[in-house]
Amino acid sequence: MVVYNQISEIQKFLSGLNRDKQSVGLVPTMGAIHEGHLTLLETARSENEFVISSIFVNPIQFNNPRDYNKYPRNINHDIELLKQAQCDGTFIPTIDEMYPNPSIISFNFGTYDKGLEGAHRPGHFSGVGIVLSKLFNIIKPDRAYFGQKDLQQAVIVTKLSQDLHFGVEIKVVPTKREADGLAFSSRNQRLDTSQRKDASRFYSALKIAQKALNEGQPVNKVIQTVTHYINELENMSLEYFEVVNSETLNPVSKINSKEKIALCIAGFVGEIRLLDNIYLDEN
Ligand code: PAJ
Repeated sequence: MVVYNQISEIQKFLSGLNRDKQSVGLVPTMGAIHEGHLTLLETARSENEFVISSIFVNPIQFNNPRDYNKYPRNINHDIELLKQAQCDGTFIPTIDEMYPNPSIISFNFGTYDKGLEGAHRPGHFSGVGIVLSKLFNIIKPDRAYFGQKDLQQAVIVTKLSQDLHFGVEIKVVPTKREADGLAFSSRNQRLDTSQRKDASRFYSALKIAQKALNEGQPVNKVIQTVTHYINELENMSLEYFEVVNSETLNPVSKINSKEKIALCIAGFVGEIRLLDNIYLDEN
């Protein structure tokens, strides 16, 4: 696997490919590679001749500077894992390479970035949109792979690619979980032993809510149940639990069997913010 730090280097490599016959799949990441990332790489590997990953902790998508500074970084270990995942190349640019000048652009994704994460992380999706636009323009992948774990991100990126004619097919891969249901996440590395144990409550809360909704309990009541279930532990707090249409991301107040519904949760264990979701009809 070749590591590229510069845009010109990776573009030189890409220009040597026969793009009519050799498709390129891109897996963008912020590093601290874990099994969630590896499942995206595995899917990309099975669908493309070349798999390129990127590692870039994108400063402009963090609304909390402490979260940015504390974001786990372990490039050498990441490179080892990416090699084992049979990634052909990885793009690891510096901040100056990606932002030679501060970006003056901002994205507004209409109703798509106003709720859920967008409501709690101002500017986050604009920052994600900018960095992914850069990566799509630099690498020009045929396909790019995103996790269902960040459902709102996956929906917004799909819109971005369509609206701006990037010609990148956006693929969404199911969430990979630990044995107790906790979704793999780079931020899990920051949990101590007792926080790690409590963190699985987010998934349990989603499963409790899923069962209750499928049994016909009203959405409002289920929101109350989940709020109590998370907040009853002293070191945990719920930021939001929402029942939404998984395509429009609009909140749903009544379950309608014709709509595809997602249950989305975010909150804190200590100072670490975790995020998860499941579909109403998934196992
Ligand atoms: P990062 O948090 O590193 O995640 C990279 C990709 O891995 C995202 O598409 C995310 O949804 C996916 N992912 C994370 N945990 C997963 C899990 N448990 N199962 C399956 N997929 C999982 O998301 C970002 O980086 C950034 O916003 C980025 C898209 C790279 C733009 O900067």
